[in-house]
Amino acid sequence: MNENRNQNAFGMIGLGTMGSNLLQNIADHGYACAGYDNNAKTVQKLNDLKNENIHGFSDLKEFTNSLKSPKVVMMLVPAGEIVDSVIKELLTVLDKGDIIIDGGNSHFTDTERRYLELEKQGYHFVGMGVSGGEEGARRGPSMMPGGDKEAYEIIKPILEKIAAHVNGEPTVAFMGERSAGHFVKMVHNGIEYAIMQLLSESYEIMKRGLQMENNEIHEVFQKWNKGRLKSYLVEITSDIFAYKNEGETDLLLDSIRDQAKAKGTGKWTSQAAMDLHLPTPIIDIAVSMRDLSSLKELRVEASKIYPDSTEMPYNTNNEKYCIELEKAFYFAMVSAYAQGMHLLYSANQEFKYNLNLDIIAKIWRGGCIIRSEFLEDIYAAFNKNPNLKHLMLDGKVAESLRKSIPATRSVISDATLHGISTPAFSASLTYFDNFRNENMPTNLIQAQRDYFGSHTYELKAKEGVFHTKWVMENIKE
Ligand code: 6PG
Repeated sequence: MNENRNQNAFGMIGLGTMGSNLLQNIADHGYACAGYDNNAKTVQKLNDLKNENIHGFSDLKEFTNSLKSPKVVMMLVPAGEIVDSVIKELLTVLDKGDIIIDGGNSHFTDTERRYLELEKQGYHFVGMGVSGGEEGARRGPSMMPGGDKEAYEIIKPILEKIAAHVNGEPTVAFMGERSAGHFVKMVHNGIEYAIMQLLSESYEIMKRGLQMENNEIHEVFQKWNKGRLKSYLVEITSDIFAYKNEGETDLLLDSIRDQAKAKGTGKWTSQAAMDLHLPTPIIDIAVSMRDLSSLKELRVEASKIYPDSTEMPYNTNNEKYCIELEKAFYFAMVSAYAQGMHLLYSANQEFKYNLNLDIIAKIWRGGCIIRSEFLEDIYAAFNKNPNLKHLMLDGKVAESLRKSIPATRSVISDATLHGISTPAFSASLTYFDNFRNENMPTNLIQAQRDYFGSHTYELKAKEGVFHTKWVMENIKE
């Protein structure tokens, strides 16, 4: 393989569908690139593509020797210990000054540690979130690189070419310091979980509450995708409601088990948010509902003890009702993005990432799973005011949110009265109602904490912390 020495502009470790597709994308843009896997069969599959720009290797040294200097190696391997062991191996064959990119869904704390360790040793490390699934990798993903700015400048020309493009602009940009890229990708996934949960609750309202047929539900999602809810997730949901396997009369969807799996990024988002004391209840509930869905046996048992006790369908005109549902979905979706952006805002302060929320919204407009029309509004809001503390405080967002409040309230109360579970919709509204509440009832919680645990409280009219002996003589019947 010596003829390939110092030839390739980009190296990839991990030749699963994502890795192979990304290499083909890079090759399509005229770059010679290399793929490595220690499994000879996987390498053969890559070489079988017969793409003259792609060179497969099963020997790590030959693979890195084939790269131009500074060598750029991207890993697309499962998050966790494998990333550490690949880095360890790589350090035996790379030179100081070379660039290692982790394109997997690594936990941001791992990325933080790896960045600092590699920086100390003289290597450049870029933790990069990549979104868009297999198709995105092949045709243009959204990429969220963070960490080493100097290294980013070197890889930028390739990344900008292989990214998706919106209005002629690539959906990749430097996110910020150290683990910023993987933090942003994690929040992307948290928002993804929230919107997927909202879509499944909408499905439940239409299917059980309104007793609509699948083709009618398909039409509703299709219609939504033509308006302000236009987004990748609504689009694929509409497709799913039209998909039948060949020769089948029923939708494939109807034969899929109702137990949702998760790889963990949604849970990580909620955990990170709680550690920062930053509320993201729609994401939290989306994670919990996937977990509840997997408790099938319990649910079956409980369904026998507590059968439905309300009449279905709703007594309503479905067509008109779906217009209200669209408004409620809009409200909840805005709230989901707002909570995610708020988490980024808070993480930026805490971790000194140097994030630009407008740039993040901008590169999410294409290529990634949460791409949507509404990201234009998010981009505009943070671009106009980079210090915007919360998306719901933006004038334009507030104006359209206000118009959707009555529909949101009635959709949630109808569902509640009919025994249909809509926790993500409800979380969006209850969050909002307290967000706009100048005086929350949490003074009571402070009093209770002080009562049973002497945890003290603060007073409205006086500085300092106070404790009261609540029992006995001061309590009047
Ligand atoms: C993306 C996705 C992707 C994610 C999967 C599965 O942006 O392309 O977010 O990174 O890992 O969609 O996630 P779950 O298995 O956790 O649902």
